[in-house]
Amino acid sequence: MSAAIEIDRLSHRFADGTWALREVSLTVAEGEFVVIAGENGSGKTTLLRHLNGLLRPTSGRVRVCGVDAAREPLRARRLVGMLFQDAESQIVGETVWEDVAFGPENLGLPRPEIERRVHAALAQTGLAPLADRRSHLLSGGEKRRLTLAGVLAMEPRVVVGDEPFASLDYPGVRGVLAALVTLHRQGRTVIVTTHDLDKVLAHADRLVLMKNGRILREGNPGETLASAEACGVRRPATDGRGIGGLTWLS
Ligand SMILES: Nc1ncnc2c1ncn2[C@@H]1O[C@H](COP(=O)(O)OP(=O)(O)O)[C@@H](O)[C@H]1O
Ligand SMILES: [Mg+2]
Repeated sequence: MSAAIEIDRLSHRFADGTWALREVSLTVAEGEFVVIAGENGSGKTTLLRHLNGLLRPTSGRVRVCGVDAAREPLRARRLVGMLFQDAESQIVGETVWEDVAFGPENLGLPRPEIERRVHAALAQTGLAPLADRRSHLLSGGEKRRLTLAGVLAMEPRVVVGDEPFASLDYPGVRGVLAALVTLHRQGRTVIVTTHDLDKVLAHADRLVLMKNGRILREGNPGETLASAEACGVRRPATDGRGIGGLTWLS
């Protein structure tokens, strides 16, 4: 299988001298669903921001679908759709439909192509019935799904979510998780960070545990889970069975 993401000995030092990443290497195959977990400050967000060239490596390198993210950040951004932690700041359209159409409109795509993409993105995130709603009146979970739909309308090869379940209630978590699982089933590469594994682990192909800017363990979720507490991550109370009945999107 070809690699969607290749991170090779990536280190990042911020201007104030903080080393946020130290020699991180990770390869993510096309179509994989990877969960990156670690306590606050372990380097998860910094790592994600390298995937679409928002940060430049202090040393090492990052390639997405073969493209060097630091050298060609604009190409990297077309390949990697990023769901930022603060969903609200990513919403730009007055209505759900307008918000999702915003990205494809900026690409200057023809109208029928824009409409095709918006329809598909709304269907994949379960938002089709809310197309005419005002974006700012949506619930927290719906807003998170709206930002995901906006990302999907750009047709990225890789979808990355930074703490996509944070501060959502249970229905919100279910909705976002169902959308991510749907994307994964459709063959998309999905990478999410979390400091809480309860919700997502049962659906992941791989778990990566970070601490102090390093990858401490990575591998099959069941086996890697044994090291979770040493990395400051609470083990799931649900035995990794995850949230059932995520089939409402098909
Ligand atoms: N802009 C910044 N300037 C300096 N230090 C930063 C900056 N952003 C993050 N850090 C530091 O880098 C480390 C990793 O942070 P971050 O990647 O946000 O971790 P996580 O997402 O796992 O909570 C932490 O020590 C954090 O304080
Ligand atoms: Mg973070």
